[in-house]
Amino acid sequence: MLEAALAAGDWAGDEREREEVIEFLDSEPVAAESLPAKPGLAIAYPDDLFDIIAGLQGPKRVCRLALEAPEQAHVLLVGDPGSAKSLFLLELERVRGALMAIAGNTTRAGVNDFLFDHPECRILLVDEIDKPSARRDLNALLPIMEGGLVTQLQGDGRFRTVTRRVKVFAAANSIRRLPAPLLDRFVVVRLKSYSPSESREVMGRVLEAREGVEPKLAATIARTLSRRTSSIRRAVQVARLANGDPELARALAARV
Ligand SMILES: Nc1ncnc2c1ncn2[C@@H]1O[C@H](COP(=O)(O)OP(=O)(O)OP(=O)(O)O)[C@@H](O)[C@H]1O
Ligand SMILES: [Mg+2]
Repeated sequence: MLEAALAAGDWAGDEREREEVIEFLDSEPVAAESLPAKPGLAIAYPDDLFDIIAGLQGPKRVCRLALEAPEQAHVLLVGDPGSAKSLFLLELERVRGALMAIAGNTTRAGVNDFLFDHPECRILLVDEIDKPSARRDLNALLPIMEGGLVTQLQGDGRFRTVTRRVKVFAAANSIRRLPAPLLDRFVVVRLKSYSPSESREVMGRVLEAREGVEPKLAATIARTLSRRTSSIRRAVQVARLANGDPELARALAARV
Protein backbone atom coordinates (compact mmCIF):
# COMPACT_ATOMS: atom_id res chain seq x y z
CA MET A 1 0.00 0.00 0.00
CA LEU A 2 2.71 2.45 1.04
CA GLU A 3 4.97 1.52 -1.82
CA ALA A 4 2.07 1.80 -4.23
CA ALA A 5 1.27 5.26 -2.87
CA LEU A 6 4.87 6.35 -3.21
CA ALA A 7 5.09 4.98 -6.73
CA ALA A 8 1.89 6.74 -7.70
CA GLY A 9 3.24 9.98 -6.27
CA ASP A 10 0.24 10.09 -3.93
CA TRP A 11 2.18 11.32 -0.97
CA ALA A 12 1.39 14.41 1.05
CA GLY A 13 4.86 14.78 2.61
CA ASP A 14 7.77 16.73 1.19
CA GLU A 15 10.67 15.30 -0.74
CA ARG A 16 12.90 14.82 2.31
CA GLU A 17 10.21 12.92 4.17
CA ARG A 18 9.60 10.80 1.13
CA GLU A 19 13.26 9.90 0.97
CA GLU A 20 13.27 9.03 4.65
CA VAL A 21 10.40 6.62 4.16
CA ILE A 22 12.03 5.00 1.18
CA GLU A 23 15.28 4.73 3.13
CA PHE A 24 13.41 3.11 5.97
CA LEU A 25 11.68 0.67 3.67
CA ASP A 26 15.03 -0.23 2.17
CA SER A 27 16.74 -0.70 5.51
CA GLU A 28 17.27 -4.10 7.06
CA PRO A 29 13.89 -5.71 7.90
CA VAL A 30 13.43 -6.69 11.53
CA ALA A 31 13.36 -10.46 11.95
CA ALA A 32 9.95 -11.69 13.09
CA GLU A 33 11.61 -13.76 15.87
CA SER A 34 12.97 -10.60 17.47
CA LEU A 35 9.44 -9.28 18.03
CA PRO A 36 7.78 -10.18 21.32
CA ALA A 37 5.54 -13.24 21.17
CA LYS A 38 1.78 -12.82 21.67
CA PRO A 39 1.71 -9.22 22.82
CA GLY A 40 -1.48 -9.20 24.89
CA LEU A 41 -2.17 -5.53 24.50
CA ALA A 42 -5.55 -5.29 26.23
CA ILE A 43 -5.56 -2.14 28.37
CA ALA A 44 -7.61 -1.64 31.53
CA TYR A 45 -9.44 1.69 31.85
CA PRO A 46 -11.45 3.53 34.53
CA ASP A 47 -15.15 2.58 34.82
CA ASP A 48 -16.20 6.18 34.33
CA LEU A 49 -14.14 6.70 31.17
CA PHE A 50 -16.08 8.94 28.75
CA ASP A 51 -18.84 9.61 31.30
CA ILE A 52 -18.39 13.37 30.96
CA ILE A 53 -19.11 13.09 27.24
CA ALA A 54 -22.84 13.36 26.52
CA GLY A 55 -24.22 10.84 24.01
CA LEU A 56 -21.88 9.55 21.27
CA GLN A 57 -22.33 5.95 22.38
CA GLY A 58 -21.00 4.50 19.10
CA PRO A 59 -17.66 6.32 19.17
CA LYS A 60 -17.26 5.50 22.88
CA ARG A 61 -17.84 1.83 22.13
CA VAL A 62 -15.25 1.78 19.34
CA CYS A 63 -12.67 3.44 21.62
CA ARG A 64 -13.33 0.92 24.39
CA LEU A 65 -13.01 -1.96 21.94
CA ALA A 66 -9.68 -0.58 20.75
CA LEU A 67 -8.46 -0.37 24.37
CA GLU A 68 -9.60 -3.93 25.05
CA ALA A 69 -8.14 -5.36 21.83
CA PRO A 70 -5.28 -7.81 22.49
CA GLU A 71 -3.45 -6.53 19.43
CA GLN A 72 -2.60 -3.11 18.11
CA ALA A 73 -5.73 -1.16 17.19
CA HIS A 74 -5.97 2.47 16.14
CA VAL A 75 -8.85 4.93 16.10
CA LEU A 76 -9.12 8.19 14.18
CA LEU A 77 -11.89 10.53 15.30
CA VAL A 78 -13.04 12.85 12.54
CA GLY A 79 -15.50 15.70 12.97
CA ASP A 80 -16.29 19.37 12.70
CA PRO A 81 -14.94 21.87 15.25
CA GLY A 82 -16.55 21.33 18.64
CA SER A 83 -17.61 17.74 18.04
CA ALA A 84 -15.85 16.42 21.19
CA LYS A 85 -12.74 14.99 19.52
CA SER A 86 -10.28 16.61 21.92
CA LEU A 87 -12.56 15.72 24.79
CA PHE A 88 -12.29 12.04 23.82
CA LEU A 89 -8.50 12.31 23.77
CA LEU A 90 -8.47 14.10 27.13
CA GLU A 91 -10.52 11.28 28.61
CA LEU A 92 -8.19 8.70 27.10
CA GLU A 93 -5.27 10.54 28.69
CA ARG A 94 -6.61 9.30 32.04
CA VAL A 95 -5.79 5.72 31.04
CA ARG A 96 -2.47 4.50 32.41
CA GLY A 97 0.23 4.55 29.77
CA ALA A 98 -1.56 7.11 27.61
CA LEU A 99 0.50 10.08 26.47
CA MET A 100 -0.64 13.11 24.54
CA ALA A 101 1.62 13.98 21.67
CA ILE A 102 0.08 17.22 20.43
CA ALA A 103 0.71 17.17 16.71
CA GLY A 104 4.00 18.80 15.83
CA ASN A 105 4.87 19.30 19.47
CA THR A 106 6.05 15.82 20.35
CA THR A 107 9.66 16.83 20.50
CA ARG A 108 11.68 18.67 17.94
CA ALA A 109 12.80 15.30 16.62
CA GLY A 110 9.29 13.91 16.33
CA VAL A 111 7.26 10.92 17.33
CA ASN A 112 10.06 8.35 17.06
CA ASP A 113 12.17 10.14 19.65
CA PHE A 114 9.07 10.70 21.75
CA LEU A 115 8.46 6.94 21.93
CA PHE A 116 12.14 6.22 22.52
CA ASP A 117 12.01 8.63 25.45
CA HIS A 118 8.76 7.19 26.84
CA PRO A 119 9.04 3.39 26.97
CA GLU A 120 6.00 3.39 29.31
CA CYS A 121 3.77 4.71 26.53
CA ARG A 122 1.07 2.23 25.54
CA ILE A 123 -1.37 4.68 24.03
CA LEU A 124 -0.29 7.52 21.80
CA LEU A 125 -2.78 10.37 21.57
CA VAL A 126 -2.38 12.69 18.60
CA ASP A 127 -4.76 15.62 18.36
CA GLU A 128 -5.07 17.65 15.17
CA ILE A 129 -3.24 15.05 13.12
CA ASP A 130 -4.46 16.76 9.95
CA LYS A 131 -2.69 20.03 10.70
CA PRO A 132 0.47 20.87 8.73
CA SER A 133 2.52 20.79 11.94
CA ALA A 134 1.84 17.04 12.21
CA ARG A 135 3.07 16.25 8.74
CA ARG A 136 6.57 15.21 9.66
CA ASP A 137 5.23 12.72 12.21
CA LEU A 138 2.90 10.99 9.77
CA ASN A 139 5.65 9.01 8.03
CA ALA A 140 6.99 7.81 11.35
CA LEU A 141 3.55 6.65 12.41
CA LEU A 142 3.28 4.13 9.56
CA PRO A 143 5.72 1.51 10.88
CA ILE A 144 4.76 2.31 14.49
CA MET A 145 1.12 1.52 13.81
CA GLU A 146 2.00 -1.62 11.95
CA GLY A 147 4.08 -3.70 14.32
CA GLY A 148 5.26 -0.92 16.62
CA LEU A 149 8.56 -0.32 14.93
CA VAL A 150 10.20 2.82 16.24
CA THR A 151 13.36 3.93 14.49
CA GLN A 152 15.91 6.50 15.43
CA LEU A 153 18.67 7.81 13.26
CA GLN A 154 21.97 7.39 15.07
CA GLY A 155 25.01 9.65 14.88
CA ASP A 156 26.72 7.19 12.55
CA GLY A 157 23.86 7.39 10.06
CA ARG A 158 22.41 4.00 10.96
CA PHE A 159 18.87 3.36 12.14
CA ARG A 160 18.28 1.92 15.59
CA THR A 161 14.97 0.12 15.90
CA VAL A 162 12.95 -0.79 18.97
CA THR A 163 9.43 -2.16 19.30
CA ARG A 164 6.70 -0.14 20.99
CA ARG A 165 3.33 -1.73 20.33
CA VAL A 166 1.34 1.39 21.06
CA LYS A 167 -2.27 1.99 20.18
CA VAL A 168 -2.83 5.28 18.42
CA PHE A 169 -5.90 7.46 19.03
CA ALA A 170 -5.95 10.52 16.83
CA ALA A 171 -8.31 13.34 15.91
CA ALA A 172 -8.81 15.41 12.79
CA ASN A 173 -11.31 17.84 11.33
CA SER A 174 -10.93 16.24 7.93
CA ILE A 175 -9.25 13.24 6.35
CA ARG A 176 -8.68 15.09 3.09
CA ARG A 177 -5.03 15.90 3.64
CA LEU A 178 -4.07 12.64 5.32
CA PRO A 179 -1.99 10.19 3.29
CA ALA A 180 -3.86 7.06 2.20
CA PRO A 181 -1.38 4.65 3.86
CA LEU A 182 -1.99 6.33 7.20
CA LEU A 183 -5.78 6.31 6.87
CA ASP A 184 -5.61 2.66 5.92
CA ARG A 185 -4.20 1.85 9.36
CA PHE A 186 -7.03 3.48 11.32
CA VAL A 187 -10.58 2.64 12.16
CA VAL A 188 -12.14 5.97 11.19
CA VAL A 189 -14.98 7.13 13.43
CA ARG A 190 -16.98 10.13 12.26
CA LEU A 191 -18.49 12.33 14.93
CA LYS A 192 -21.66 13.71 13.38
CA SER A 193 -22.69 17.32 13.94
CA TYR A 194 -25.27 17.63 16.69
CA SER A 195 -28.95 17.95 15.85
CA PRO A 196 -30.71 20.89 17.57
CA SER A 197 -32.08 18.61 20.29
CA GLU A 198 -28.68 16.99 20.85
CA SER A 199 -27.03 20.44 21.02
CA ARG A 200 -29.57 21.52 23.57
CA GLU A 201 -28.85 18.52 25.75
CA VAL A 202 -25.07 18.78 25.48
CA MET A 203 -25.10 22.56 26.03
CA GLY A 204 -27.27 22.22 29.12
CA ARG A 205 -25.06 19.52 30.51
CA VAL A 206 -21.78 21.31 29.86
CA LEU A 207 -23.04 24.61 31.29
CA GLU A 208 -24.38 23.00 34.42
CA ALA A 209 -21.73 20.40 35.12
CA ARG A 210 -18.63 22.17 33.95
CA GLU A 211 -19.35 25.88 34.00
CA GLY A 212 -21.32 25.78 37.25
CA VAL A 213 -24.27 27.61 35.69
CA GLU A 214 -27.49 27.41 37.68
CA PRO A 215 -29.74 24.70 36.08
CA LYS A 216 -32.60 26.98 35.03
CA LEU A 217 -30.27 29.48 33.41
CA ALA A 218 -28.32 26.69 31.71
CA ALA A 219 -31.57 25.34 30.27
CA THR A 220 -32.59 28.80 29.02
CA ILE A 221 -29.30 29.39 27.24
CA ALA A 222 -29.33 25.87 25.77
CA ARG A 223 -32.91 26.15 24.55
CA THR A 224 -32.45 29.56 22.93
CA LEU A 225 -29.02 29.04 21.44
CA SER A 226 -29.52 25.50 20.13
CA ARG A 227 -32.13 26.79 17.69
CA ARG A 228 -29.42 28.81 15.97
CA THR A 229 -26.16 26.94 16.41
CA SER A 230 -24.82 23.59 17.48
CA SER A 231 -21.67 25.16 18.93
CA ILE A 232 -21.11 24.07 22.51
CA ARG A 233 -18.26 26.54 22.78
CA ARG A 234 -20.64 29.38 21.86
CA ALA A 235 -22.94 28.34 24.69
CA VAL A 236 -20.04 28.47 27.13
CA GLN A 237 -19.13 31.95 25.89
CA VAL A 238 -22.70 33.19 26.26
CA ALA A 239 -22.89 31.85 29.80
CA ARG A 240 -19.61 33.50 30.72
CA LEU A 241 -20.63 36.88 29.30
CA ALA A 242 -24.02 36.74 30.97
CA ASN A 243 -22.36 35.88 34.26
CA GLY A 244 -25.56 34.76 35.98
CA ASP A 245 -27.90 37.41 34.53
CA PRO A 246 -30.90 35.60 32.90
CA GLU A 247 -32.09 38.62 30.86
CA LEU A 248 -28.63 39.18 29.44
CA ALA A 249 -28.24 35.45 28.78
CA ARG A 250 -31.48 35.34 26.80
CA ALA A 251 -30.56 38.42 24.82
CA LEU A 252 -27.09 37.14 24.01
CA ALA A 253 -28.30 33.63 23.15
CA ALA A 254 -30.77 35.09 20.68
CA ARG A 255 -28.16 37.20 18.92
CA VAL A 256 -24.57 35.98 19.05
N1 LIG B 1 -20.80 15.36 23.63
C1 LIG B 1 -20.24 16.26 24.42
N2 LIG B 1 -20.28 16.13 25.75
C2 LIG B 1 -19.71 17.04 26.58
N3 LIG B 1 -19.05 18.13 26.16
C3 LIG B 1 -18.97 18.33 24.82
C4 LIG B 1 -19.56 17.41 23.90
N4 LIG B 1 -19.32 17.87 22.64
C5 LIG B 1 -18.63 18.99 22.79
N5 LIG B 1 -18.40 19.27 24.08
C6 LIG B 1 -17.69 20.44 24.62
O1 LIG B 1 -17.53 21.36 23.56
C7 LIG B 1 -16.24 21.95 23.58
C8 LIG B 1 -15.50 21.61 22.31
O2 LIG B 1 -15.17 20.22 22.31
P1 LIG B 1 -13.78 19.70 21.79
O3 LIG B 1 -12.71 20.65 22.21
O4 LIG B 1 -13.62 18.29 22.20
O5 LIG B 1 -14.03 19.83 20.23
P2 LIG B 1 -13.12 19.32 19.02
O6 LIG B 1 -13.93 18.33 18.27
O7 LIG B 1 -11.79 18.91 19.51
O8 LIG B 1 -13.04 20.65 18.15
P3 LIG B 1 -11.84 21.23 17.24
O9 LIG B 1 -11.96 20.55 15.90
O10 LIG B 1 -12.13 22.69 17.14
O11 LIG B 1 -10.54 20.94 17.93
C9 LIG B 1 -15.53 21.41 24.80
O12 LIG B 1 -15.69 22.32 25.84
C10 LIG B 1 -16.26 20.11 25.08
O13 LIG B 1 -16.20 19.81 26.43
MG1 LIG C 1 -9.92 19.74 19.28
